[in-house]
Amino acid sequence: MDTLNCIKTRRSIRRFTDQPISDETLQQLLEAVRWAPSWANSQCWRLIVVKDPEIKNSLSNLLSPHNPATKGVQQAPIVIVLCAQLGISGYTMEKGRAGRKDDWFMFDLGIAAQNLCLAAHALGLGTVHVGSIKHEEVDQLLGLPEGVVAVEIIPVGYPAKVGNPPPRKDITEFVFQDRYGQSLTLG
Ligand SMILES: Cc1cc2nc3c(=O)[nH]c(=O)nc-3n(C[C@H](O)[C@H](O)[C@H](O)COP(=O)(O)O)c2cc1C
Repeated sequence: MDTLNCIKTRRSIRRFTDQPISDETLQQLLEAVRWAPSWANSQCWRLIVVKDPEIKNSLSNLLSPHNPATKGVQQAPIVIVLCAQLGISGYTMEKGRAGRKDDWFMFDLGIAAQNLCLAAHALGLGTVHVGSIKHEEVDQLLGLPEGVVAVEIIPVGYPAKVGNPPPRKDITEFVFQDRYGQSLTLG
């Protein structure tokens, strides 16, 4: 599958079959995270691969109420919890925090997470980013140490149901030329 096709045809998957995921396939997904770019190559992501059905069930109870991904977190053969080690991304050794933001870890985690989702799609697997969770309770459940926080949950499995693509804004609605608000001209 070529890259653009992979990007465009990936959908959020919230229902999974019970087909297991081989360790070889899991390894490929983790490699996709490993090769993600990050602030000064700081690689602040920390991943927990949840296979234990009881822990998956507990995690599914920590999604926001009525979260449409709840069942998917219970069903998926593997649930990956993406965590971040704080105080690395967006910081320099000499000067401490660089720039006006101390949340660059969210940016790095977003890139890594989408690498994982696109690699999964290319391998015939489905995923969904699940960000609407009770973060502190997830931290506790998984025993995260001080300075490491949960960012999102990604259930991974073979898709049982693929939804229609939700509509996207037209390019002209979010891309400008030269100054904010000026229409882009494309040949
Ligand atoms: C940061 C982030 C958090 C998300 N959180 C949730 C979530 O908590 N529950 C859920 O069902 N989908 C969640 N989604 C999936 C979006 O709803 C979905 O990507 C969007 O509707 C577009 O659909 P598509 O992924 O099929 O293109 C999240 C997506 C992102 C990028």
